[in-house]
Amino acid sequence: MGIILRSQAELEKIHRAGLIVWDVLTALRDMIRPGMTTMDLERFAERRTAEHSARPAFKGYRGYPCVLCTSINQEVIHGIPSATRKLREGDIISLDFGVEAEGYYADAAVTVPVGAIRPELEKLLRVTRESLDHAIEKMRQGNRLSDVSAAVQTWVEQHGFSVVREFVGHAIGTKMHEDLQLPNYGSPGHGPRLLEGLVLAIEPMVNAGRPEVKMLDDKWTAVTADSSYSAHFEHTVAVTANGPRVLTRPREITGPSW
Ligand code: MF3
Ligand code: CO
Repeated sequence: MGIILRSQAELEKIHRAGLIVWDVLTALRDMIRPGMTTMDLERFAERRTAEHSARPAFKGYRGYPCVLCTSINQEVIHGIPSATRKLREGDIISLDFGVEAEGYYADAAVTVPVGAIRPELEKLLRVTRESLDHAIEKMRQGNRLSDVSAAVQTWVEQHGFSVVREFVGHAIGTKMHEDLQLPNYGSPGHGPRLLEGLVLAIEPMVNAGRPEVKMLDDKWTAVTADSSYSAHFEHTVAVTANGPRVLTRPREITGPSW
């Protein structure tokens, strides 16, 4: 199949899907409180997506049961919402969400503090978000794919954290996962050159401790092997003639990715 480059009109469609993802994630971020369950968040996301007449991208994907992934503390990704899992002050929760609209997909994630969190966790969230900022900055014509990967790894390891190897970012467009994979580690200067119209979901997963993960018995939830806490930030980003374009937020928002 190879690398797909999207036209201007296609980027606008992905952006329209991306604005729905952004609306749902920012609304969820703003409602996070101790005492809520992750199923409360799932229900909200499902309702809000229906109001936008979009299709949730995750539910039914390889049998995933929900529209949202809610990964708390040592959970890295793909935590399944549960009516018995209550958020507690001091937790961190990653919210990962995607939709299909007009035949195009967008995918994003944000990790949110529940009330006040330890300073070390503030740093974990900040460094992970900044690693995404640096990766986005590399989404320019003429750079190579591994320049994006290396930007994440360098920033994360400089700050004493580690990047997960088992899960990667991906090309996205008319499918949620298209052929090209984007690891969050590697040395710069390798892989295909980035061309105008390339669209990638960039999604660093960063552990406070060691990089290894293991799978829970539910066959979905990935947790850190050493029980250290983990953060995840993601945007769908296009390479354009004018530089990187984040498609999972409104155009007028610039600056830090989340
Ligand atoms: N952001 C995740 C990814 O790109 C979401 C997939 S969750 C799934 O893989 F349930 F849909 F698999
Ligand atoms: Co993704």
